Amino acid sequence: MESVRSQVELIREAFHYQARFDGAIMVFKVDFPVTEESGFPYLMKDLALLAGTGIRVLIVPGAKEWIDSVLGEYGIVSRYEGTARITTESALPFVEMAAFHVASRFITGLAAGGIDGVTGNFVRAQGLGVIGGTDMAHTGTVKKILTDPVRRVMESGMVPILPCIGWSSSGRPYNVPSDEIALASSAALGAVKLFIITAGNHLSAGSYDIPESVRRGEDGRIVRLSIQEAGSILENNWKAPGGDKGLEAISLALKAARTGVERVHLVNAREEGAVLRELFSNLGAGTMVYGDEYESVRSLKAEDVPDVLRLMEPLMRQGVLVRRGPEDLIEKKDDYAVFEIDGSIHASGALHDWGEGQGEIAAIATNPAYADMGMGSRLVRYFIDRAKKAGLHRVFVLTTFTQDWFELLGFKEAPVESLPEKKRRLYNLTRKSKVFGLDI
Ligand SMILES: CC(C)(COP(=O)(O)OP(=O)(O)OC[C@H]1O[C@@H](n2cnc3c(N)ncnc32)[C@H](O)[C@@H]1OP(=O)(O)O)[C@@H](O)C(=O)NCCC(=O)NCCS
Repeated sequence: MESVRSQVELIREAFHYQARFDGAIMVFKVDFPVTEESGFPYLMKDLALLAGTGIRVLIVPGAKEWIDSVLGEYGIVSRYEGTARITTESALPFVEMAAFHVASRFITGLAAGGIDGVTGNFVRAQGLGVIGGTDMAHTGTVKKILTDPVRRVMESGMVPILPCIGWSSSGRPYNVPSDEIALASSAALGAVKLFIITAGNHLSAGSYDIPESVRRGEDGRIVRLSIQEAGSILENNWKAPGGDKGLEAISLALKAARTGVERVHLVNAREEGAVLRELFSNLGAGTMVYGDEYESVRSLKAEDVPDVLRLMEPLMRQGVLVRRGPEDLIEKKDDYAVFEIDGSIHASGALHDWGEGQGEIAAIATNPAYADMGMGSRLVRYFIDRAKKAGLHRVFVLTTFTQDWFELLGFKEAPVESLPEKKRRLYNLTRKSKVFGLDI
């Protein structure tokens, strides 16, 4: 029964997102090692699936390791200025060959999912010129993304693929970092999401000095980061460029979030279906860096009532919560609040004012699939705050099953006589609820 329920929940979440993302542009920056993974064909099928269902997919393949190996094979030694490879006249044909070979792997993968990938002259580049006396030759930077042709490709149901080569307006080719292309195309096209897909481990909270507020998953992964949290992780852990792949991914995500991409997702390609899970479920599978409001506690609206009753129904059936119907919720609408994650409600509760300066926190319910994520306690804290603002001096709960949890939140058992008069008269002796109170 529970598993059917969670399947239905998942389908609901997927539809919720599907409707929201129809026609939205998403950029996928995929590191080269991902293309060597056994799961690469499945990743491509998932991207083809997204493109086929109305999401506008754009792919930016990284090719660094492949370029290194092609140059190595032809005995060409690269020199670097900082972290930028100097692409000389003689190296350029090999760099182009390597970059387009990688792009062709994506075209092949998408074709298996029935979607055409298209490469083209989409990136206007300019040379870096001479830096500190070093001629950077064919190493360039992004001047602009030619958004019109990119959009036309996407509108015709195909997937533009932007390898790490761009051309100047006079047609001179340059080797351009794929991170830059991913950032510039996300910004220029107003992408709602940038995915940074790597082959390796998820971002583990244990590997870094991270702020207390950061949400960690059961698997130890950093689940999501606000712009501020991502910034402070970089500040506290950054050593040098090229030092840590995870930090580099956070750095790229942060730049994208700062240029206005609402959500950047760091995903490990080794995890089956990670892109779909990250996209269509609030639980996710990777790490999300977000620039907008992602989760919030807010007052109940009339249209939320079916969602709240759906959360409460199994608990009312088990007798954990007192039975309430839609009309009860509507009548006391202003007492209720919901915990919303990205537009979906996953917890709810109420604060009822019984006079004598006392408020009852009631009907706290969390979606079991989202248990132990701090939503219940955030709601209780929200109601305590609301009670304080309303000038109340005490909150209480009546509970039959959850006393330990309320004790953890600082509530203390109290006699029935401590309840305000109006509540005492309604106190249901047969339910034998315990009273727990907290002075605020
Ligand atoms: C109780 C409830 C609201 C907790 O929601 P939640 O969002 O999972 O809670 P949080 O994430 O804030 O807290 C989780 C912690 O409380 C603990 N916890 C959860 N339910 C508990 C219970 N009944 N008794 C004791 N501890 C409990 C968890 O083990 C977890 O501990 P940890 O942090 O050490 O791992 C949720 O389990 C629920 O909906 N229960 C049924 C309804 C109910 O009892 N409501 C209260 C009556 S008004």
